[in-house]
Amino acid sequence: MDYNQIREVAKEILTPTCLVCRECNGVACRGQVPGVGGKGTGNSFIRNYDFLTRVKVVMDTIYEHGDQDTEVEFFGHDFAAPIFVAPIGGMDVNYKNLITEAEYTDRVVKGAVAAGIAAFTGDGANDDYFNAPLAAIADVKGMAIPTLKPWKQENVINKIRIIEDLNVPAFAMDIDSAGLTHLAKSGKPVYSKTVDDFREIVQSTDLPFIIKGVMSVEGAIKAADSGCYGIVVSNHGGRCLDNTLATCEVLHSISLAVGDRVKIFVDGGIRTGADVFKALALGADGVLIGRTFTIMAFGGGIDGVELYANKLIAELKDTMLMTGCKSIKDITYDKVVVVK
Ligand SMILES: Cc1cc2nc3c(=O)[nH]c(=O)nc-3n(C[C@H](O)[C@H](O)[C@H](O)COP(=O)(O)O)c2cc1C
Repeated sequence: MDYNQIREVAKEILTPTCLVCRECNGVACRGQVPGVGGKGTGNSFIRNYDFLTRVKVVMDTIYEHGDQDTEVEFFGHDFAAPIFVAPIGGMDVNYKNLITEAEYTDRVVKGAVAAGIAAFTGDGANDDYFNAPLAAIADVKGMAIPTLKPWKQENVINKIRIIEDLNVPAFAMDIDSAGLTHLAKSGKPVYSKTVDDFREIVQSTDLPFIIKGVMSVEGAIKAADSGCYGIVVSNHGGRCLDNTLATCEVLHSISLAVGDRVKIFVDGGIRTGADVFKALALGADGVLIGRTFTIMAFGGGIDGVELYANKLIAELKDTMLMTGCKSIKDITYDKVVVVK
């Protein structure tokens, strides 16, 4: 199956939970949380997508010809491109149990590794969200990045011990889940954390720690002060707070403030290799992509995820070719212009 055929299959399976829209922009699914949309009016998700459409790429083909190299190194590992599958948890509440948590994570974790990249995995109200991916992670010799919820410190440390045994390259925490009130209602409270809490997490393990859900310069400085490896500039796909700025809108100022201290990842509304290029030019070292990888996982399984990852890499290379960039480090701020 090709890309469009996989999307057609996904549409049959996923409708009406996700309509597999031509543009995955948060409009049709606004307010659908649980579900696949953004919270409230849905405009945090919509703004993530819309902002990227206002970032324009500066064309320049006057340079010495040569191949485009998208390879990067993170946490001591080489990846085919600075692209990761974002953690998506909750097949039961968000995708009406169409597949199990274990089936879903098997597809994204293995599809990502097949393309030379990696997937983040999720966590949540149901213990299965954290536990189900562990088998797939073991199958790929640990090449995935578990993402813990901001549980009580003791529970966090216990979960770190579990993933250390799997030999994962790094782990993350989606600190913006402090705003997911349904977790407390289901008897699994989550907490906002202090810089000292993050320091304790950093010092509890040799694994690189990534703080996911930073949306301001102040927040980025506090995160960096904890000694973490990296941050993800993220508003959780617009699912935990309505009316935020777009992630790529705050990215450049965050990269100026902490780019020399931590690795910066970003997610939200990134759909194509050209979008990946834009995010890198705005200051990211790498990107995460959520909903559109999920569509490919539903329509094409492991192969669908691999195919989409390779499509993104090809589009990124194409954009680099047209902008005089031979390697990822050549993708600098002057390669884009943000228009009104
Ligand atoms: C249905 C759904 C479930 C999600 N579950 C998690 C999760 O368990 N942990 C997490 O850190 N982020 C979770 N996210 C947020 C994504 O990791 C990511 O930040 C967001 O989807 C990126 O935006 P995009 O989908 O527009 O690419 C979830 C997002 C969706 C749509």
